[in-house]
Amino acid sequence: MKFPDGFLWGAATAAHQVEGNNVNCDSWLLEHVERSVFMERSGDACDHYHRYPEDVALLAMLGFNAYRFSIEWARIEPEEGEFSLAQLDHYRRMLATCKQHGLKTVVTIHHFTSPRWLAARGGWESPETARRFARYCERAVEHLGDLIDVACTLNELNLGILLQQWGFLHIDDAILKAPFRAAAAAACGVDPESFSSFPFCVRSRSRDVLLEAHRLGADALRAGRGRFPVGMTLAMTDMQPAAGGEDAQRRARYQAEGIFLEAARRDDFIGVQTYTRQRFGPQGPLGPQPGVELTQMGYEFWPEALEATIRYAYQQAKVPVIVTENGLATDDDQRRIAYLQRALAGVTRCLSDGIDIRGYFYWSALDNFEWIFGYAPKFGLIAVDRESQRRTVKPSASWLGNIARANEF
Ligand code: BGC
Repeated sequence: MKFPDGFLWGAATAAHQVEGNNVNCDSWLLEHVERSVFMERSGDACDHYHRYPEDVALLAMLGFNAYRFSIEWARIEPEEGEFSLAQLDHYRRMLATCKQHGLKTVVTIHHFTSPRWLAARGGWESPETARRFARYCERAVEHLGDLIDVACTLNELNLGILLQQWGFLHIDDAILKAPFRAAAAAACGVDPESFSSFPFCVRSRSRDVLLEAHRLGADALRAGRGRFPVGMTLAMTDMQPAAGGEDAQRRARYQAEGIFLEAARRDDFIGVQTYTRQRFGPQGPLGPQPGVELTQMGYEFWPEALEATIRYAYQQAKVPVIVTENGLATDDDQRRIAYLQRALAGVTRCLSDGIDIRGYFYWSALDNFEWIFGYAPKFGLIAVDRESQRRTVKPSASWLGNIARANEF
C-alpha cells in the first residue's frame, strides 16, 4: 500500500531523555532526592545535546523524512522571565540541521520536564502555569517558528490520569504525601504543597491547568513567527471491555481520553501515542491477560492498539491524526519488526477507510532514559553504548527506514 504524498515518517525523542545533564529541570531534581522513585539517574543520557548532528544525519540516511524532538523549557527559561538566547540558538541550530538533511521538524514544546522554578511555584497544579507556558511558547516561536513544520504543545497532557487508572501512581493524596515530593520541595525551599512536577502532579488540580495551558500555548504559537499545524499529543491505550466491564471502560476512556479529544477539536491535528491495550472488568482495569506476551514495560505486546486508538481519536477529535509515538521496548529487535508490521498494517486499514493520517513517528530514535525505569527498557531503533556513546543501527531501523523511503508498506 502506498502512503499519501507528504506522509511524515520519522522517529521521536524528548530532550530530557536524550540530551544529558539537563540539570535545571524538575526531573533531574527528583532523580537526585533521597527516596527517589527513579531507578537510575539520567546523567549524560545519549549526549544528544552535543551529538545531534550525527543523530540527525543517521535518521536521514536511514530514509526518514522527519524528526520529532522536544525543546527544553528549563534551558530556555532557566529562571522565571529570564530567557536564554544561547539556548534558543542551540535549538535553532538543531532545526537548521534537520532542514539541511531534508527532515521536516516536529517540535514538542513541553515533554514532561519543567524548570525547577516552575515546579516550586505549584507547577501544573497552579492556574498561573497556563499563562507562564504561553509566555514560553511566545518566546520560543519568535526565535524558532520559521524552522518549525509541526508543533506539539504539551506531550501527553492526559498522562497522569492514565497512569492513575493503570495503578502506577496512586491517588492524589498519596502523591501529596510522597517523601520524594517533600524532599524536592525542601531542596527548592518551599513546602510540599507548592512543589509539583508534571508526571507526579495531583490530577484533580492539574487537568484544567493543562487544558488551559494547551489552549493559550497553541494560540501563542499560531500568532507567532511561521505557519505550521499545532496540536496536543495524548497517551492512548486501546481500552477494551472484558465481560461486565462496559461501563467501567466507557467511563475510564472518557475521563482519560474523551475529554481531551473534545478539546482537540479546535486544533490542526491530534497526536496519537499508543503502545498497548488495557482491558476493563466491572471493577476497573484488569492486568495483562495470561498467555499474552509482555514487553519490557510489563504491559501486553499489542500492536493492534494503534489502529483502535487512531479510530477513536479521529472519531472524537474530528481532526487529522499524526501518530506521534508508537513503539516497543524489547531486547529482541525481531519482535520490534513484528510489532511494527502489525501496527503499520493497522495504519493502512485506517487510511483505506478514509481516516486522515498525516504521519507516523516511531518511539524512539535512540535507546534512552525511560524516566523512572532508567535505561533498562530498550525502545530505540538505534542502540547507544552508555560508556562510549557509540551508536549502532538496529535491523528494525533499516527496515522502517526503507518503508519510509519508499512511502509504501
Ligand atoms: C512518552 C515517552 C516515553 C514513552 C515510552 C510516552 O508516554 O511520551 O517519553 O518514553 O511513552 O514509555
